[in-house]
Amino acid sequence: MANEDKFKKVISHAKEYGYVFQSSEIYDGLSAVYDYAQNGAELKKNIRDYWWKAMVQMHDNIVGIDAAIFMHPTTWKASGHVDAFNDPLIDNKDSKKRYRADVLVEDYCAKIEGKINKEVKKAEKRFGDAFNKDEFVSTNGRVLGYQEKIDTILKRLGQSLENEDLADVKALIEELGIADPLSGSKNWTDVKQFNLMFGTKLGASADTAMDLYLRPETAQGIFVNFLNVQKTGRMKIPFGIAQTGKAFRNEIVARQFIFRMREFEQMEMQFFIKPGTQKEWFEYWKDTRLKWHKSLGMGDDNYRFHDHEKLAHYADAATDIEFNFPFGFKELEGIHSRTDFDLKQHEEYSGKKLQYFDHEDNENYTPYVLETSIGLDRMFLAVFSNSLVDETLEDGTVRTVLKLPAVLAPTKAAVLPLVRKDEALTKMAKTIVDDLKWEFNVAYDEKDAVGRRYRRQDAAGTPFCITVDGESIEDNTVTIRHRDTMEQKRVNVEELRDIIKKEVDVKEWLMKMK
Ligand code: GAP
Repeated sequence: MANEDKFKKVISHAKEYGYVFQSSEIYDGLSAVYDYAQNGAELKKNIRDYWWKAMVQMHDNIVGIDAAIFMHPTTWKASGHVDAFNDPLIDNKDSKKRYRADVLVEDYCAKIEGKINKEVKKAEKRFGDAFNKDEFVSTNGRVLGYQEKIDTILKRLGQSLENEDLADVKALIEELGIADPLSGSKNWTDVKQFNLMFGTKLGASADTAMDLYLRPETAQGIFVNFLNVQKTGRMKIPFGIAQTGKAFRNEIVARQFIFRMREFEQMEMQFFIKPGTQKEWFEYWKDTRLKWHKSLGMGDDNYRFHDHEKLAHYADAATDIEFNFPFGFKELEGIHSRTDFDLKQHEEYSGKKLQYFDHEDNENYTPYVLETSIGLDRMFLAVFSNSLVDETLEDGTVRTVLKLPAVLAPTKAAVLPLVRKDEALTKMAKTIVDDLKWEFNVAYDEKDAVGRRYRRQDAAGTPFCITVDGESIEDNTVTIRHRDTMEQKRVNVEELRDIIKKEVDVKEWLMKMK
């Protein structure tokens, strides 16, 4: 299936199977705002829990907090967001469409990368088993030429943005001959900066109301609480503070479904360290976070690092973990070495000391910070799109199956009485549901022929179907069918709990990080 078709299928499947709806759909929706439906809310919660367990529960030196969305407005002055949290925008004079100038250039580079991939595929076909991809991309003249072009363009873009040289960003767009993707016109305005924060007001009367912002990242709630947590938790450096929660950005080019939203959720962790140790911790967190992703078994080749050319105003090193979404490799998570920028800024603006006394070294310092920051919605999209497959079966029919990692699946098992009208079967099936639901999310499904029910559960992502039939009444056995292999086994009802637990248990999955 072509990537664009695959992505359309992802969006329609997410709606049809109760995962994601457009917000306020009955009023024709609100652009780049989405609601999570009955299955989506469960999947999102399971991803959040999987992250929290790995980051907080499994680390003795990381604790979690839940800071408010509203923060004192000076927070955003100190953090640099009021002055520097901007996107460079460009308008097309003919189509009147607005674009992010850097995204236009990056999309141009993605097309060149597409050419590299084509060369690789061609060579793979030509050389068969003897093909060595690493050697090919590091020696083939055409590939090297393409890669050099990408590197030169991105370097220039990074430098122009860093130097706030917006005229050069426009010049780059014109030199590359980039056209409006919709109209094909190359008639561009100048590039301008646009602040992404949403403003709101606190207070009832117009003259006393205070201007507030909806937080554009959860991280600042951690920074301003650094000393509170350190003192009350008696934390010793190195230690981390984690939190998950909503963030808001007035994204101008909001597209690609839940990839870029105006209201979204982040899972962030700030790791406070001794100045000078940031390089080793940067490597540690790159490695640890990649292992977390890979533990979900979504294909090791679907991840890659992308080091930033243009560093954010607070960072001395930064990399993205990119995932192979249906529209190509894009940022899924950021790992940033934020130095002591944020704590120092908050010290300056609040007039309060945010320092740490290191008893071992007998010195006071402002800690450096290593940040891991992942979008929960983006992770949802990675998991959902990667799991959705159309499988051609031996008899030639096609089965749509959502092969979600079982640990994340919203419903772990569906219990199906073979015949709806047989009261003994429905009664036994409901008893099994009542028993299993103490530990797992379990569904009961009695409508339609059993084959159709299997397909329905496959498409919804349920890892197990348990069927109760005439024999079950006689000997307390049922069949348990596995979503991915479609294999069916006859087992005793007493065994169900352990069979399901083995596949969905968080410990089994997180152990893969070791
Ligand atoms: N505290 C650092 C920070 O916010 P970021 O790279 O701007 O860094 C971190 O964002 C992560 O948040 C991204 O890697 C992405 O997964 C997610 N994210 C950012 N903007 C988003 C948006 N508009 N919609 C959905 N997720 C977004």
